[in-house]
Amino acid sequence: MSSAAYVFDAYGTLFDVHAAARRHAERAGPEYQQFSELWRAKQLEYSWVRALMGAYQDFWALTEQALDTALAGFPSVDRGLRSDLLDAYRALDCYPEVPMVLKALRARGARVAILSNGSPTMLETAVKNAGLDTVIDDVFSVDTLKTYKPAPAVYDMVTTRYRLYPGVVSFQSSNRWDIAGAKKFGFRTVWINRSQMPDEYFDLGPDLILPSLESL
Ligand code: LAC
Repeated sequence: MSSAAYVFDAYGTLFDVHAAARRHAERAGPEYQQFSELWRAKQLEYSWVRALMGAYQDFWALTEQALDTALAGFPSVDRGLRSDLLDAYRALDCYPEVPMVLKALRARGARVAILSNGSPTMLETAVKNAGLDTVIDDVFSVDTLKTYKPAPAVYDMVTTRYRLYPGVVSFQSSNRWDIAGAKKFGFRTVWINRSQMPDEYFDLGPDLILPSLESL
């Protein structure tokens, strides 16, 4: 099935959020994976809590605050790694199939975009670093609205700008909560279940589940 636009979540879907801790795994020590999980979980929690409170701070600020919480929670991880971890987060690896898949979609005449909670600066840096700037038409950041996914207004940025009905937009995310939000909004949804997570949000199920973006 082909869509007029393919819109991608950034962190976890195109970029590997655990690549930063992995890059410094030796110095971070044996708990680096659990540490990275807490960093990510807190980053997301802060985004939802702040969106509900109407107390927006951009995603980079939340990424730093979440890192501090994770460092406090894992005394075994050297605090001296803080700036190296943040530098690594600015330049996260993209998953190996990403450039090829985006290129192929674009060659089919579809629009290819990112819709992310990331701040414009962090997204621009990540996209350039991964060499994706030539295969992406637009980067939509929640920063324009000062709230976070899964607020419906965020998904609406795409349909408003592209003048498309939600049903002709294919939205890809590895975050199940993001798929639920996109489905509720009316997008066609593809859950990229990279880590074989169990399904959730049963009333807002994905239209398709794939293990990576490869067979999109
Ligand atoms: C994003 C985060 C939530 O890119 O993964 O929007």
